[in-house]
Amino acid sequence: MKITRDLRLPVLVAPMFLVSGVEMVVAAAHAGILGAFPTPNCRTPAELDDWMNQINARVEGRPWAVNLITHSTNARLGDDLAILEKYQPAMVITALGSPAPVVARVHAYGGMVMADVPDPALAKKALAAGADGLACLATGAGGHTGHLSPFAFISAVRAFHRGPLSIGGGISDGEGVAAAIAAGADIACMGTRFLGASESLASDEYKQAVVAASIGDIVASDRVTGTTALWLRESLAAAGYLDPDTADAARDYGSANDAHRRWRDIWSAGQAVGSVRAIEPVAEIVDQLDTAFRKAAARLQS
Ligand SMILES: Cc1cc2nc3c(=O)[nH]c(=O)nc-3n(C[C@H](O)[C@H](O)[C@H](O)COP(=O)(O)O)c2cc1C
Repeated sequence: MKITRDLRLPVLVAPMFLVSGVEMVVAAAHAGILGAFPTPNCRTPAELDDWMNQINARVEGRPWAVNLITHSTNARLGDDLAILEKYQPAMVITALGSPAPVVARVHAYGGMVMADVPDPALAKKALAAGADGLACLATGAGGHTGHLSPFAFISAVRAFHRGPLSIGGGISDGEGVAAAIAAGADIACMGTRFLGASESLASDEYKQAVVAASIGDIVASDRVTGTTALWLRESLAAAGYLDPDTADAARDYGSANDAHRRWRDIWSAGQAVGSVRAIEPVAEIVDQLDTAFRKAAARLQS
């Protein structure tokens, strides 16, 4: 995969709703990994234009990525795509829908499209729709989680796809990154590990809760958004979502205000949560990942 050749470490900081923004993407680029943010983190197209303008001005030509929701309820897709064409991020990660509406326009400026997929059947569909690569979402992932083992998922996909492949879900450290590459991925996608980064937009309370939590504090629930996601038990309980009578199963990615409230007040984190032991800068996290990755690679070689 061409883009990883220019990176210090094959790591993509996952796009995270209300968590990743300009500072995270710029810090990732300067630390030698790939940063990304989801466009709904900007309330308006004008704000998105401003964010992308700032990123391009600060990354000094290093690659970065953006995440677009291609689900039919995303009324802003057309506006976001036009802004994306203006700033030309190297990678576009599509989620919650077919990549078809964006492929030709991203290819026209020389970008690549990675489709976020939870299983091999949807992976095949995404490739048929023109995606260049697959962002495979495995079990243990924060946010809307996956359900397959990363190892079985990579093997199944590698049977029909030799192109770009990212794997995410529960990758906690540099050893996990090495395992992902050894298993056949080109890049490891890590969200939860960066939740507590100084550059993350998460509130201080959210970051402190992530630092305090361990894997046993993570609960899967589809009650908050209608799709199974992983949450910090305490915040789920505080919002009343552990009571089956308060079920709210509306699946609508267009209700931005509701969505903002849910993800802001109910905190998501994946099974890698125990690896976040302090609030620290992205550069420091990448140093730790790099050291452990190289040790693990040496162990594989010996
Ligand atoms: C708080 C949070 C918000 C997320 N928001 C999004 C999102 O807006 N779009 C998306 O495609 N994935 C989103 N994800 C999923 C991540 O992109 C990624 O797949 C996942 O974090 C990888 O697994 P890990 O958390 O175990 O590292 C989110 C994850 C978290 C933890």
